[in-house]
Amino acid sequence: MTTTPNGSVTFSIDGTNRSTKLPVHKGTLGPDVVDIRKLYADLGVFTFDPGYGETASCESTITYIDGDEGVLLYRGYPIEQLAEHSDFIEVCYLLMNGELPSAAQLKDFKKGVTYHTMVHEQIRRFFDGFRRDAHPMAVMCGVVGALAAFYHDNLDINDPEQRRIAAFRLIAKVPTIAAMAYKYSLGQPFVYPRNDLDYAANFLYMLNAVPAEPYQVSPVLAKAMDRILVLHADHEQNASTSTVRLAGSTGANPFACIAAGIAALWGPAHGGANEAVLKMLGEIGHAKNIPSFIEKVKDKNSNVKLMGFGHRVYKNFDPRAKIMQKTCHEVLGELGITDEPLLDLAMELERIAIHDDYFVSRKLYPNVDFYSGIILKAMGIPTSMFTVIFAVARTVGWVSQWKEMIEDPSQRIGRPRQIYTGAPRRDYVPAAQRG
Ligand code: ACO
Repeated sequence: MTTTPNGSVTFSIDGTNRSTKLPVHKGTLGPDVVDIRKLYADLGVFTFDPGYGETASCESTITYIDGDEGVLLYRGYPIEQLAEHSDFIEVCYLLMNGELPSAAQLKDFKKGVTYHTMVHEQIRRFFDGFRRDAHPMAVMCGVVGALAAFYHDNLDINDPEQRRIAAFRLIAKVPTIAAMAYKYSLGQPFVYPRNDLDYAANFLYMLNAVPAEPYQVSPVLAKAMDRILVLHADHEQNASTSTVRLAGSTGANPFACIAAGIAALWGPAHGGANEAVLKMLGEIGHAKNIPSFIEKVKDKNSNVKLMGFGHRVYKNFDPRAKIMQKTCHEVLGELGITDEPLLDLAMELERIAIHDDYFVSRKLYPNVDFYSGIILKAMGIPTSMFTVIFAVARTVGWVSQWKEMIEDPSQRIGRPRQIYTGAPRRDYVPAAQRG
């Protein structure tokens, strides 16, 4: 650790004379951390923390979350300020390099990203192997992982220059692959990237343009897409980021690690939630059905969750949800959509839930996914692409966290332990002798 301990805790095991003093470290912000690395050597015990809710798995300078206060900082800058005043490409620079860029640094960085937006022509052929109705996240897992087969010059993770180029390649190519996955599902030709457009505008262009006619990217939609990307760019040691770090800790190449992150993001408890929110709103159908739906959510036997609500870390409003709700109104307003029944339904659902004791007592508030699906739908993006857009945004976070881990001299393979509750040692019995 780079911090020096500023305290200690003593652990002792009841009924024995075994005890040990463990150092306590203080980060810049957030709770102090007990360094338990000597625990097994000193006391012969492990800690038990399924879901890792109380475990700091690494030291990081990238993103800070205060879940009780609803605070999210990228490299110290509040998400609200970045969403309002910055843009995605500047946020990418910030996450990767730790500081906001000068004008010249930003220009260079943009050039570095746009230089890599195209994919190898042979990657096009992969798509023929997928069914037309394949979920685009399935395509993303496969094709992003397969990048490792094309860029052998970037696979030495110990070379800082190769790491740098791999990072550019991933940030630049993931939107191209995402758009290809979408076009393939429609049966439309792939659209090559346009490096004269900004990151978000180019992404929309690749999603929506067709060769048969000119396509103008709407600045309103480009701005909204940019903001969605900023809000999803990083989020500390969440499930997909931890997956990227764990895969990377083995020395796996960055393309494989990001593919692992995409796979983890796909689940409905994580990035798949925005898709699930829209499905849920469709099933509720009308505000008059909200009370019976809420009753179902509260019934432990129903297995129904209020999608877009609750978060492992936020026990308050997710600050991204607030910005997303505001953006949702702006986008619908600017698109001239005065009546969006799904938005009305979502707002009524939120109003009822945040006053209901079940949600209040469990500190369940809307998360980033509650409103993002409605914005994406208004932008004409199909539901199956929602999690893909999240993956496009989060790629920079994954890459930054992967790079930070590789550059950490104390990094070693991630290898959790367990409490074993299976059968004790026993001898094999031949089938004929089993009772
Ligand atoms: N609807 C109903 N009840 C819920 C919800 C929900 N959305 N979320 C949590 N709860 C309940 C749990 O059943 C539990 O109740 P209990 O104490 O009576 O058993 C209590 O609240 C605590 O929940 P946990 O499961 O311990 O919360 P955890 O931190 O493990 O889960 C999670 C967080 C997975 C996000 C959960 O809230 C959830 O499934 N939400 C819906 C899916 C969703 O929106 N995911 C997106 C997360 S944001 C992101 O990934 C970008």
